[in-house]
Amino acid sequence: MRAFARIARPAILAASRSDRLRHSVESMSVTRDVVRRFVPGETDDDVLAAVAALRGSDRLVSIDYLGEDVTDVDTAEATVAAYLHLLDALGARAEDAAIVRPLEVSLKLSALGQALPTDGDKIAFENAHAICQRAQQVGAWVTVDAEDHTTTDSSLSIVRDLRVEFPWVGTVLQAYLKRTEADCAEFAAAGARIRLCKGAYDEPASVAYRDAGEVIESYLRCLRILMAGDGYPMIASHDPAVITAAGELAREFSRGADCFEYQMLYGIRGDEQHRLATGGSRVRVYVPFGTQWYGYFVRRLAERPANLMFFLRALTRRT
Ligand code: FDA
Repeated sequence: MRAFARIARPAILAASRSDRLRHSVESMSVTRDVVRRFVPGETDDDVLAAVAALRGSDRLVSIDYLGEDVTDVDTAEATVAAYLHLLDALGARAEDAAIVRPLEVSLKLSALGQALPTDGDKIAFENAHAICQRAQQVGAWVTVDAEDHTTTDSSLSIVRDLRVEFPWVGTVLQAYLKRTEADCAEFAAAGARIRLCKGAYDEPASVAYRDAGEVIESYLRCLRILMAGDGYPMIASHDPAVITAAGELAREFSRGADCFEYQMLYGIRGDEQHRLATGGSRVRVYVPFGTQWYGYFVRRLAERPANLMFFLRALTRRT
């Protein structure tokens, strides 16, 4: 497992940035079958069917229209249009909005133009603002994903600006970054919704903990800050150690089941999602959809040797 984390993981994550590999992997029909485990489909109808099934089993959802690292204005605008279309479709289904928003969309600022060479931050803010406005109209929440550490300052600054008008906008913080305890303290004091995850990119030791044990320790320090604070902690992890600690911290800080939530990715630990939901906890499932699944899919392969083996076995069976 340590060798996988040290050697294979950085190589697989580097592959997530390769256009040539992307074209080859995307064109193999066998890949699509494996991808379906993590991404329920490419269209609004596909994702709405998956959402209906999850809602039917007491789970909340956050929908992500897949895409990242957009480098032209037209693609960024097409992403906004896709979110607006999705939100309109979701609007008709939003129930219980006053109690907890069962529907949420997650977005990546790099898909909204953040990396454009001119005015990237401004364009990403304006695009995210348009999505938040429509989300407010239909009664959905928005959470901003975290990408590699070179984007963190820009992303958090855009989130602060969005929260002036839309205080319900949440953001992801990555426990593997050494800066994150301080970011947790700031956003917890501001009463923000914070999705705390470990972090899925290959980051240098200068900014990130690279040892799995250190990452968990950082996660638990960050979670304690969020649980003690004024915001709404969203525990985005499949790790049993994190899930157990979250329950203990919730009791220590007298947070009821409606004052925090567990979050997991579509297709991962469905039984555990179900166990927590039937036990009375809030559980939200992150459901990605769309044609741009390559980067997301490769990060899932990099997280777990079993996923990579499953994919490689499927490949060898078909070739
Ligand atoms: P860990 O990887 O240690 O896994 C613990 C256990 O969970 C494993 O032993 C296995 O049983 C199961 N498991 C974990 N990953 C699995 C997989 N891929 N397939 C099958 N089983 C798996 N990251 C980021 O950088 N930016 C972001 O915006 C987000 N957003 C996000 C939202 C949500 C809702 C979740 C749950 C996660 C993210 N992530 C993320 C990803 C996150 O940073 C991290 O890479 C994964 O959640 C894996 O870390 P765990 O905490 O689950 O622990």
